[in-house]
Amino acid sequence: MNEPDERDERDTGEQAAPDADRNARGPVGEAAGAGGGGPGPGEYLQVADLSVTYRTAGGDVPAVRGVSFGLQPGSKLGVAGESGCGKSTVALALLRLLPRTARTGGRVLLDGEDVLAMRWGRLRAVRWAGASIVFQGAMHSLNPVHRVGAQIAEPVLLHGGAKPARARERVAELLEQVGLPAWRSRSYPHELSGGQRQRAVIAMALACEPRLIIADEPTTALDVMIQAQILRLIDDLVTGLDISMLMISHDLSVLADTCDRLAVMYAGRIVEEGPAEEVFAGARHPYSAALSAAFPRVGDPASRRAPRGLPGDPPDPAALPRGCSFGPRCPEAQQRCAEVDPVLWPAGGRRSAACVRVLSDEGARAAGVPPARPREEGAADTSRLDRGGEDDRAPAPDSAPQPEETR
Ligand SMILES: Nc1ncnc2c1ncn2[C@@H]1O[C@H](COP(=O)(O)OP(=O)(O)OP(=O)(O)O)[C@@H](O)[C@H]1O
Ligand code: SF4
Ligand SMILES: [Mg+2]
Repeated sequence: MNEPDERDERDTGEQAAPDADRNARGPVGEAAGAGGGGPGPGEYLQVADLSVTYRTAGGDVPAVRGVSFGLQPGSKLGVAGESGCGKSTVALALLRLLPRTARTGGRVLLDGEDVLAMRWGRLRAVRWAGASIVFQGAMHSLNPVHRVGAQIAEPVLLHGGAKPARARERVAELLEQVGLPAWRSRSYPHELSGGQRQRAVIAMALACEPRLIIADEPTTALDVMIQAQILRLIDDLVTGLDISMLMISHDLSVLADTCDRLAVMYAGRIVEEGPAEEVFAGARHPYSAALSAAFPRVGDPASRRAPRGLPGDPPDPAALPRGCSFGPRCPEAQQRCAEVDPVLWPAGGRRSAACVRVLSDEGARAAGVPPARPREEGAADTSRLDRGGEDDRAPAPDSAPQPEETR
């Protein structure tokens, strides 16, 4: 499940030199490290300035650009963002599961060991015992012609070094942990429901007692009831077993419920990072605010009737707009946004956001960002139109940062 076979070994070991396209830390003060965004001491997973570029017939596709974050032992980080923003590419890069056409740069430290520089044998062991991945489509993760029990036993036998009798016991334990009866080990994947298959995949991911689980849209293909059960199961397991978790989803509300911290991605970058509830309830970056406003809230009937969306589409990673890549869709865009490529700057408390609006005048000066130009009385806000915007943009979400809040 976790591991492509040797023929399909995806990693080329090729490393790109760190480029200028960094979003690792902002240049202001102690930068994003103070509020998250960058790796810090004591973290089990440390990702610094990660970049991934796919080579395609149509040219290079910079899918991930200077992503940095850290994960403390036992903590849960949610990664959200629209389709194509690079979430799965980050997940695959963490365990070097990308195709050969991908060029990876930056650093990924797992318990202090550099995953991107590991030898193949060590990498195989780390993929099970250090960290394992639960993918979205359980049917694609399971081999249809082998019984579920045999598939769960395989890593226990190969990487855990167990004897067959012990592996059988371990399979029964794992199935019980994920809420399946032991006799299900004899089932083939097609004999299980979608939810049961996802449970089996989770059992497999737990087989070698990893210290980190990467869950890439683990519930997207399931109905809401089963989705809730699987999320609760994952949450109980990672909490009970003190495992760190990186959970990827389009659904900010699911992540806010499940995770301690949230990272919101846009066009290959993290544009906001911070405590989950704070990012969900009061995003500082206009994109996170729009993403959060797209979900109805309990106790707010108006939000159920009129969930707000975001007009336009994410940019083509191979042809990013000038300046802030969110600019053409941003309801808060200013003239200066076309002149700067924002990085994660401290945004108050333990938060950071890649938006000029979180900078004080002093912070803007230190970061080399032009000051906001005061609008003349009665003058039209031409900045949005200059940047390809139209008058029919969505109104600014309530939770979008106001200048006085962010100074
Ligand atoms: N093998 C590949 N070759 C070329 N481009 C790729 C490849 N895989 C992904 N991409 C491109 O990289 C970008 C990021 O893709 P990725 O799958 O990481 O996005 P995602 O955020 O996981 O999207 P989704 O939510 O739909 O799963 C996209 O523009 C995608 O087209
Ligand atoms: S930098 Fe400007 S365009 Fe980018 S998110 Fe902030 S306000 Fe919007
Ligand atoms: Mg994906």
